[in-house]
Amino acid sequence: MKISVIGVGYVGLATAAVLAELGNDIMAADVDEEKIKCLNQGIMPIFEPGLKEMVERNVRENRLKFVSDNKKVIGHGDVIFICVGTPPKYNWETELKYVEDVAVEIAKNMKSYKVIVHKSTVPVETGDKIKKIIKESVEEDVDFDVVSNPEFLREGTAIEDTLHPDRIVMGSDSKKAIEIMKKIYDPINAPLIITSVKSAELIKHASNAFLATKISFINSVARICELSGADVEEVAEGMGYDKRVSKHFLNAGIGYGGFCFPKDSQAFIKIAENLGYDYKLLKATNEINDDQKRIFVDKVKKALGHVNGKNIAVLGLSFKPDTDDMRFAPSVYIIGKLLEKGAKIKAYDPVAMDKAKNILSNVSFCKDPYEASKGADALLILTEWNEFKEMDLKKVKSLLKSPLIIDGRNIYDLSAMEKGGFRYISIGRKDV
Ligand code: UGA
Repeated sequence: MKISVIGVGYVGLATAAVLAELGNDIMAADVDEEKIKCLNQGIMPIFEPGLKEMVERNVRENRLKFVSDNKKVIGHGDVIFICVGTPPKYNWETELKYVEDVAVEIAKNMKSYKVIVHKSTVPVETGDKIKKIIKESVEEDVDFDVVSNPEFLREGTAIEDTLHPDRIVMGSDSKKAIEIMKKIYDPINAPLIITSVKSAELIKHASNAFLATKISFINSVARICELSGADVEEVAEGMGYDKRVSKHFLNAGIGYGGFCFPKDSQAFIKIAENLGYDYKLLKATNEINDDQKRIFVDKVKKALGHVNGKNIAVLGLSFKPDTDDMRFAPSVYIIGKLLEKGAKIKAYDPVAMDKAKNILSNVSFCKDPYEASKGADALLILTEWNEFKEMDLKKVKSLLKSPLIIDGRNIYDLSAMEKGGFRYISIGRKDV
């Protein structure tokens, strides 16, 4: 099928690559000409396992083209996926300007029936807005339908999640559009959830809010574990065996970051407020998440007495492993606070350092965890990269000035750390 993708950020790029891989004829566009130039040379704008190979293969085999001309792209596809950014405004409401601009462009340039699919995370009722805008701006007498098809991919596993999703949600009031969407997703083996446009839009926000709440829930339990002497890993394991709870997303830590949960939970609070509902639960979820970062900084201060003049090694900068994304990464807050108190920071991350350099100043970036550890008064783990789980801890210990590890992601076994002679402080577990 001929498909157009407008906007090649995380969602657009993964969607374009996977739909091409499934045999469709894809044309994807972005207003960022530099990005398009790079993509055509095989240079990916983001680090995402498997993406580069998939893009290169499909470009080579002529199923995937990148252009910077939206008009051309609108003419290409029978189905147009809108994947442009929906960043937060100053008050956390969702900025819909880019979606609305694309809707106008589609209206002005479509010459035949189109299925217009919005994939970006948007407030409930955005589909109605898109429909209205297109109806008002359309220049020729052409028919169209709007579908909400939210994306549930995670950064770091974007390709895998797009090829093997838990479910595919598509919301539309048009049977014709749904049949076309079913054909696109036919090669993917996943339950299809067909709903109204509004329900589909809400499924996305409600899913992210639920997952964020689950993380804040376990982080609250971690606090109670610390105060009572219980172990959050044991508690989470015991809870997770109950199928209704499930073991996923019960990892206590320094809180969620990234461009989804922090902004989407705030946006959902605003959406609720605009509809006349005070979303107290989600507000508490966000507060608990902020607390986790503050509590971690306090742990560092307490363990070191004070941080002024102390050398602190930081391992992990991205908001989670397998991505170079630094947006709303807890590391930014934590490092900022430690620098403010006079600490000297040496940091290492396997892939996020280039992006981190644009955000963090007064930090020395190191070539590996060992260089960062050299002479440090404490070593902090802020992202659970496998590289840190597998590093030579004996070597680390010999390099550290004092064998203190403060782990915001609980990546090490307590008894191993005790045996290894470390002073080890983690989240929701006893200090050893
Ligand atoms: C999240 C959702 O998981 C995706 O389903 C959704 O499509 C995406 O947002 C989006 O809206 O675009 P993502 O932000 O890529 O995906 O990353 P997650 O793996 O969900 O992790 C989010 C944050 O939660 C990370 O900072 C991670 O460290 C933290 N987290 C996750 C925990 O602290 N504990 C956990 O148990 C799980």
